Amino acid sequence: MKPVTRRTFGRGMVAALALGGLRPTSVHAQAAPDLTARESLHQLAPATYPQTQVWGYDGTVPGPVIRLPQGGRLTRRFVNELPQAGTIHWHGIRIDNAMDGVPGLTQDAVAPGETFQYDFTVPDAGTYWYHPHNRSYEQMARGLSGALIVEEADGGPEVDSDEVLLLDDWRLTEEGQIAGGFGNMHDWAHAGRIGNWITVNGTPEWHRSVQQHSRHRLRLVNTANARIFTLEAQGLAGWVVALDGMPLDAPQPLGRLVLAPAQRADIIVDVTADIGEEAFLVSFERDGGYAIASFDVTAAARSERLGTPAPLAPNPVPQLGRLEDARTAKLLMEGGAMGRMSGAMMGGRMMGMRDMAGAGKVWAFNGMADMPEQPLVTAERGESVRIEITNDTAWPHAMHLHGHHFRRIAADGTAGALRDTLLMDRGETAEIAFVADNPGDWLLHCHMLEHSAGGMMTWLRVV
Ligand code: C2O
Ligand code: CU
Repeated sequence: MKPVTRRTFGRGMVAALALGGLRPTSVHAQAAPDLTARESLHQLAPATYPQTQVWGYDGTVPGPVIRLPQGGRLTRRFVNELPQAGTIHWHGIRIDNAMDGVPGLTQDAVAPGETFQYDFTVPDAGTYWYHPHNRSYEQMARGLSGALIVEEADGGPEVDSDEVLLLDDWRLTEEGQIAGGFGNMHDWAHAGRIGNWITVNGTPEWHRSVQQHSRHRLRLVNTANARIFTLEAQGLAGWVVALDGMPLDAPQPLGRLVLAPAQRADIIVDVTADIGEEAFLVSFERDGGYAIASFDVTAAARSERLGTPAPLAPNPVPQLGRLEDARTAKLLMEGGAMGRMSGAMMGGRMMGMRDMAGAGKVWAFNGMADMPEQPLVTAERGESVRIEITNDTAWPHAMHLHGHHFRRIAADGTAGALRDTLLMDRGETAEIAFVADNPGDWLLHCHMLEHSAGGMMTWLRVV
């Protein structure tokens, strides 16, 4: 029998009240907890500014951290109290296609006032996140995103603290409010909507007191629309232990860390700064470096640093098959400002760049600016797939595949770390490979949200 805690008692009271009310049909004994997207106020800017009107999950920015054990079941009733239709996409976690949250592909967008029940099992431990997938260039710029943390079955590495740090950038007005202009084609054709205000977990002054030689797991998530973060630790030394949720075979010494939109890094760091000093996480921008997180060192946790951590236990991702036997596809990325593209297919006909921009598209995949009717590739379940992606544009892009993690295949055939989002430089060609083991229709798009809305989106089918 479950002990009666204060919490279960409180729930019982709520149920009793509801039963006594007028809508008995709305009472379900095992109802999933709600995750409600709604407007709220949040102090994003310094206290001398008014609060910012944001869109948040459960009224918070970022949304609540959802934590569950590996193999556990996540159930949430998404309640849409926003004036726009929406969905929730559970980024990077390999789940049932029907729960992937892509409007028009895996579900209908949830209209204002409506709900949708998400219910799935999480196979992999690690750092994931959730965000809307409808008008995400606006809805995420207004604040909608949150962390999804799946805890290792073995309890994970020994650390003194485990912190989730969601890095975001915002475009704020002089009054500290979210600037409009979400459909600004100049942004869309360039680097995307880059903000003028950076926060960690919704605050410009994320801060902790730590002890010298204490060890911390920091789960970094880039939730920005389009900003690429280049990070360095000062007064902290350690290792990268996972990328995009997936453990590295061996911890890599932490140096400069580049996080494209949607990418994650789990780092394990020891505080090496002296007592009385501060340690920092620094973000390098064009005009210098800024501390986006600070740690003041109060005392010594132990007399010296701990040893190198063991690698995290691997997740059950299938091994790549023989690359010679893999199904192959090519993806050419074109368009944008300063590119060579003169036009692309839209609505079944060829359109010039100017007309395309008038219709809200400025990029193309394989010559198509619309979401294509046919998948880029159809794979049989269990088959290995290789996709050669060429970035023939003047901009970097962050290519994200849904439902699967892939490895980048180097020219000599060696496979890189498992990732779900790949940062590609201008002019760069990259080959990715993965086992198509998850049936359904899966997006492949640029996670710079103005780019995907502007034409950088396609999909794959696994049958
Ligand atoms: Cu983070 Cu298509 O998504
Ligand atoms: Cu892009």
